[in-house]
Amino acid sequence: MKVLLVNGSPRKAGCTFTALSEVAKTLNEENIEAEIFHIGDEPIAGCISCRACRELGKCVKDDIVNKFADIAKSADGFVFGSPVYYAGINGSLACFMDRLFFSDPAFGSGIFGLKPAACVVSARRAGTTAALDQLMKYPGLSQMPIITSRYWNMVHGNTPEEVAQDLEGLQIMRCLARNMAWFLKCKEAGIKAGIPFPKSEERIATNFIR
Ligand SMILES: Cc1cc2nc3c(=O)[nH]c(=O)nc-3n(C[C@H](O)[C@H](O)[C@H](O)COP(=O)(O)O)c2cc1C
Repeated sequence: MKVLLVNGSPRKAGCTFTALSEVAKTLNEENIEAEIFHIGDEPIAGCISCRACRELGKCVKDDIVNKFADIAKSADGFVFGSPVYYAGINGSLACFMDRLFFSDPAFGSGIFGLKPAACVVSARRAGTTAALDQLMKYPGLSQMPIITSRYWNMVHGNTPEEVAQDLEGLQIMRCLARNMAWFLKCKEAGIKAGIPFPKSEERIATNFIR
């Protein structure tokens, strides 16, 4: 089983990476494969609402978003990580997440449906819960079981060295990883025991126009 961890910071080996590395290391200790995917430091285009993905089954703009969507198909779980920028997530990551989740072919039951997800943020000081709330919106409407820890998933620091001193933050990351590993093993055992996936209904979208 494999968990994909998205580093949504432009800094490849910064604070978000440090937090995700603690999660990845602990997942490995639990015999779960872990790969950190960096969204990079190049601009990422936002969603233009062209809806071409409804026909294509992927984003019309063939860049890092589709590259990630491809490898995400074979992943069993996800951790999305972001630095806190003005009490929200990094703008590039917001563009990445909008396009990634909007272009999921079955809109919540394709690439991501029923795969566990967690979100993690890193900040110097404040805005963490607001950023976490924002990041959680994506798995929250994609039928992804949310994995939590013993506190909201955050670390503090401006540098990896400072994050390394956030002992509580790192413990939160390890607890999160163990909870994710446990859930994945339970899900696997459930499938082996013949527990069927929940029945799926055709999506109703009322748009509130009547
Ligand atoms: C544009 C920008 C905005 C930021 N806004 C905040 C903020 O609102 N609150 C905060 O505590 N830190 C803020 N920071 C600091 C980063 O969140 C913090 O250094 C983070 O740990 C960096 O993670 P990274 O190394 O993975 O990029 C900001 C940094 C930048 C570059």
